Amino acid sequence: MRMYDIIHKKREGGELTTYEIHFFVQGYTQGEIPDYQASALLMAIFFRGMTQRETAALTLEMARSGDMVDLSSIPGVKVDKHSTGGVGDKTSLILGPIAAACGVKIAKMSGRGLGHTGGTVDKLESIPGLRTDIPRQEFFRIVQEVGLSIIGQSGNLCPADKKLYALRDVTATVESLPLIASSIMSKKIAAGADAILLDVKMGSGAFMKTLEDSRALAREMVRIGSQVGRRTVALITDMDMPLGSRIGNALEVQEAVEVLSGKGDRRLRALCLELSANMIYLGGHAPDMPKARAKAVEAVRSGRALEKLRRMVEAQGGDRRAVYDPSLLPAAPVTLEVPSPAGGYVAGIAAERSGLVSMHLGGGRATKDSVIDLAVGFVLNKKTGDAVAPGESLATIHARDEKSAAEAAEKLAACFSFSGTQPAVPGIIRDIIR
Ligand code: URA
Repeated sequence: MRMYDIIHKKREGGELTTYEIHFFVQGYTQGEIPDYQASALLMAIFFRGMTQRETAALTLEMARSGDMVDLSSIPGVKVDKHSTGGVGDKTSLILGPIAAACGVKIAKMSGRGLGHTGGTVDKLESIPGLRTDIPRQEFFRIVQEVGLSIIGQSGNLCPADKKLYALRDVTATVESLPLIASSIMSKKIAAGADAILLDVKMGSGAFMKTLEDSRALAREMVRIGSQVGRRTVALITDMDMPLGSRIGNALEVQEAVEVLSGKGDRRLRALCLELSANMIYLGGHAPDMPKARAKAVEAVRSGRALEKLRRMVEAQGGDRRAVYDPSLLPAAPVTLEVPSPAGGYVAGIAAERSGLVSMHLGGGRATKDSVIDLAVGFVLNKKTGDAVAPGESLATIHARDEKSAAEAAEKLAACFSFSGTQPAVPGIIRDIIR
């Protein structure tokens, strides 16, 4: 078999056999197929697409390219969750503790942030002492004892996806439905959970800009999950504006603690309760969704969810006092208010561009090897739909120095749009695919 023929077949719109997909994934992971041929195939897939059968075959090949985690030694239904990524997305830090407080077992491997999107592992590492590089047996023990552990993705989980994702990133082939669906689902299948909850983001800060595209991606992933015997549910949720009010690693840990204390941004709270209710239901800890929702609300109200986060932090070597005392988290030396250039109502806040503001402050990675500053970011004082007077503070920048604060303030102000009339703010949950 020749890689040339596989590229040619896809270029002409043909359907690849399972063996051809196996040949490509294996050969590329082992370094036998060069980047230039893999790039050509990715571009052909980008333009020609893949059938459901091809996408499922690609997913399984990538899942099997490295370790397949076996969670069967941990009793109970293990539920995993994945977000397709966005700005200010700290939901894993909130719904993990809520669902675990309701009996769900969560053994979660998370990623680091890249570009305008943040990553759960970076956020967690802003808690002093907390380790995310935990050996497999210790990880399993924490899940058994605490019910919840969140660590970094192990070195040999889906090496095919690791290589292919890096190649897609530099060959303009990220935004392809079969490539995104197989990339996400291969990692979830290899991570070993019995059930998978997907948070598919849509809007200006997401890979999928429209409801139609997000639905298609969600359906494809739910179909793949079901085919391999994992109960899979996808929620389609809004990423037209940043999620919550705090953007930046330590700032987002603070906001997660706020929500787990029953306070914080209303939309973020609503989303986290709905996602955790779905995890509780998928994990078999409630007979229906209304009862699952009631359990999630009670876990927050009683303080049990916050206590779960504290126990996880402690088990992973972190300073548990930081969960109750935000002054123990890294703090930026400079803060600067962003005055509103206009009056009226906030009509929108560009999600992707505001994520880049946080990245330029040092809070995100421009490349995979960048070192990030856990303390910097910004706090939104006004959200879409809020009334604002000229000069009133739209946001507070948290920066390392005066120069970067001033630059970020100017860029963040430009992310806001204004209107003379109050805009309607659509609900955060747009659809659910079961
Ligand atoms: N997240 C992933 O893990 N893979 C993609 O292709 C896109 C988002």
